[in-house]
Amino acid sequence: MTRTVYLNGEYLPETEAKVSIFDRGFLMADGVYEVTSVLNGKLVDFDGHAVRLNRSLSELGMNNPISKEDLLEVHRELVRVNDVNEGGVYLQITRGAPADRDFAFPDPDETPCTVVLFTQSKPGVTDNAASQNGIRVISIEDLRWGRRDIKTVQLLYPSMGKMMAKAAGCDDAWLVEDGFVTEGTSNNAYIVKDGKIITRGLSNDILHGITRAAVLRFANEAQMKVEERNFTIEEAQNADEAFITSATMFVNAVVEIDGAQIGDGKPGSIAKRMREIYLEESLKVAI
Ligand code: PDD
Repeated sequence: MTRTVYLNGEYLPETEAKVSIFDRGFLMADGVYEVTSVLNGKLVDFDGHAVRLNRSLSELGMNNPISKEDLLEVHRELVRVNDVNEGGVYLQITRGAPADRDFAFPDPDETPCTVVLFTQSKPGVTDNAASQNGIRVISIEDLRWGRRDIKTVQLLYPSMGKMMAKAAGCDDAWLVEDGFVTEGTSNNAYIVKDGKIITRGLSNDILHGITRAAVLRFANEAQMKVEERNFTIEEAQNADEAFITSATMFVNAVVEIDGAQIGDGKPGSIAKRMREIYLEESLKVAI
């Protein structure tokens, strides 16, 4: 089936959606994105993603070219026409395509933003090898820029990190700066020690994960102990459990870090419980 995608107000077959070579997303990585997960054909935490999108745009001095209502409608229509039951919707907004390459931002009145959305169908994403067995990660130096709180499309270093992990026979990489874990290449990072969930606090150093916010809220509601603070790879290796969160992996256990087994090498009970709670609660409020 040819996927239907959305480009600047139009629904098109994916093969017909074309963007200019002068688009600043293409030339300068001058754009932001969101990934909203789809469960049972419904959008998980659409509001959270819409709020973060607005923040990313405003931090980069871009106007939001599409209202929240219209954005929701486009998400839903793409999920419907592409018959997505499990998977996600990818959204990207760039600063558009001026007449030529230039470092200076174009006048937004003359150069409209480019808005692209497409679906990714991933049947079985709630129950797969990674969720059953946990993932293995390596640690690498965090060489990204200093505004990781803005969800920009500059994903070269995270891609390189995933390739370094693959070359090492692992699934992903955790990024380390000044001796402390910032986050995963495309997820937030957690450890569990003596029943307490530990994760780095929010700042410009990490993406403010929508899944992170939900998981910490559910953990608090379940009266679990949560501590937002920095931790090292060594502390993580000696933790009882480790896990990651993201819109694409939900809550997923980490069972090995730089070759050191975490706990008994199987997904831990708190990671499993948080995954269950997250999936259950998210489904209840998905729209
Ligand atoms: N990545 N940290 C980074 C660097 C991320 O890229 C992501 C998401 C997260 C988790 O955020 P959220 O819970 O809102 O998905 C944390 C998306 C899924 C991606 O790039 O595909």
